[in-house]
Amino acid sequence: MVLPSILSADFARLGDDCQRALAVGADGLHVDVMDGHFVPNLTMGPAVLKSLREALPDVWLDVHLMVEDPGPMLEPFAEAGADHLTVHAEVVPEAKRAAMVGRIHGLGCSAGLALNPDRPIEADEASFGLFDLILVMSVFPGFSGQSFIAESVARCKQVRRSAPPTLRIEMDGGIAPDTAPLVRAAGCDLLVTGSALFGAKAIDRQEVIVALRGTL
Ligand code: DX5
Ligand code: ZN
Repeated sequence: MVLPSILSADFARLGDDCQRALAVGADGLHVDVMDGHFVPNLTMGPAVLKSLREALPDVWLDVHLMVEDPGPMLEPFAEAGADHLTVHAEVVPEAKRAAMVGRIHGLGCSAGLALNPDRPIEADEASFGLFDLILVMSVFPGFSGQSFIAESVARCKQVRRSAPPTLRIEMDGGIAPDTAPLVRAAGCDLLVTGSALFGAKAIDRQEVIVALRGTL
């Protein structure tokens, strides 16, 4: 799947930008929620997601919670229309993960665990089986437009080797036509793209999506 990160869209034309990305082949939308604490940036809350859901009733909405305390945000984002909620391993201790995944599933969403680029994969392997998806960050979270961290390819392969076959792997950060083939070959199923897609001219965006997916 190719998932545009709306953080790189034109917020004054958010609905149009998203609709056009979907019309030229995007499989869903990736929504970056930042709280100014877990990461030094502040983005959007459930109200923006609710508007997107109303404008795009059928789109798969993947919510990436880059927040220090995701617990209180699960219900508001699920009620606003999220299909999937990813929380960061750095802020959810292992002992609390089963209950958190239970809550996310109870809200009708699938659940993801995100790993920052400096987090040893071994530290979280034991809880991979609880989740539907592992998000291997290929930049340090906080901003779009950063360069892809090359070591993320080996990290993705390592997750693929140790994860159950049904577990989906997503990568996020610096994914562009030149890095996407490596990412796909490493076993990644969901490719997030911000600046590579929205930074391209509208007329070229279909080509970017095809290049990221590697097939029409
Ligand atoms: C980074 C965010 C990403 C980012 C992707 O903190 O989680 O989703 O917006 O943007 P690009 O593709 O420009 O790295
Ligand atoms: Zn993201």
